[in-house]
Amino acid sequence: MRIIEAKDYKELSKQAANIIAAQIVMKPDCVLGLATGSSPIGTYDQLVEKYENGDLDFSKVSSVNLDEYRGLDHENDQSYYYFMHEHLFDRVNIDAENTNVPDGTNPDAEAECKRYEELIRSYGGVDLQLLGLGHNGHIGFNEPAPIFEKETHCVDLTESTIEANKRFFASADDVPKQAYTMGIGTIMRAKKILVVVSGADKADIVAKAFFGDVTPEVPASILQMHPDVTIVGDAEALAKIPR
Ligand code: F6R
Repeated sequence: MRIIEAKDYKELSKQAANIIAAQIVMKPDCVLGLATGSSPIGTYDQLVEKYENGDLDFSKVSSVNLDEYRGLDHENDQSYYYFMHEHLFDRVNIDAENTNVPDGTNPDAEAECKRYEELIRSYGGVDLQLLGLGHNGHIGFNEPAPIFEKETHCVDLTESTIEANKRFFASADDVPKQAYTMGIGTIMRAKKILVVVSGADKADIVAKAFFGDVTPEVPASILQMHPDVTIVGDAEALAKIPR
């Protein structure tokens, strides 16, 4: 596990974007696993800047997103599909045909999760998976649970996640109660993993997830077992890790 400490959010976004850019330069037809949420927004802005400066070409890149709310369609501005187009896909020369987000409008959860898992396998797996970290240790929408769910599946969101995500909706009642998410096995099969964490409110969970016991009650703790994980955090988020 490599830990890169950045002085602030802007710096961490630059560092994370550099790692993703290096992946694209080394393998122009790479498969990126992407995340939504607040943490990677700055990283996407930095990637767009590199593209606009002529330093990065997304034309051969494919992407698979971690997750999507069940029931939200592409036009819904809270869908992760919408988020990805707004923050990255519509701002760079990635071929929209090569971008993938679980289809929240497919009411058949089992069929959709199976399709998505097979799609990722058909790409030959993910070269670099970008992750944020939930306050309860969730990655994707893999919530604390008695076991690690291996493959893409449908989850009931916890109160803590609904509470954290309600800031994007009119009220907590409007937050969808379920989501489709890559499983822990799906995430762990990525060749490289890049975690971006920012802010004092993440300091406790960063220490617990990456220096505490490996347990499905803290889903991100499994990343300790992955051979190639880089955590890029600002000083506040890394304040409680053992030195
Ligand atoms: C997003 C996702 C979530 C977020 C996590 C942290 O696709 O899967 O696991 O990464 O909830 O969110 P932020 O970055 O908003 O703190």
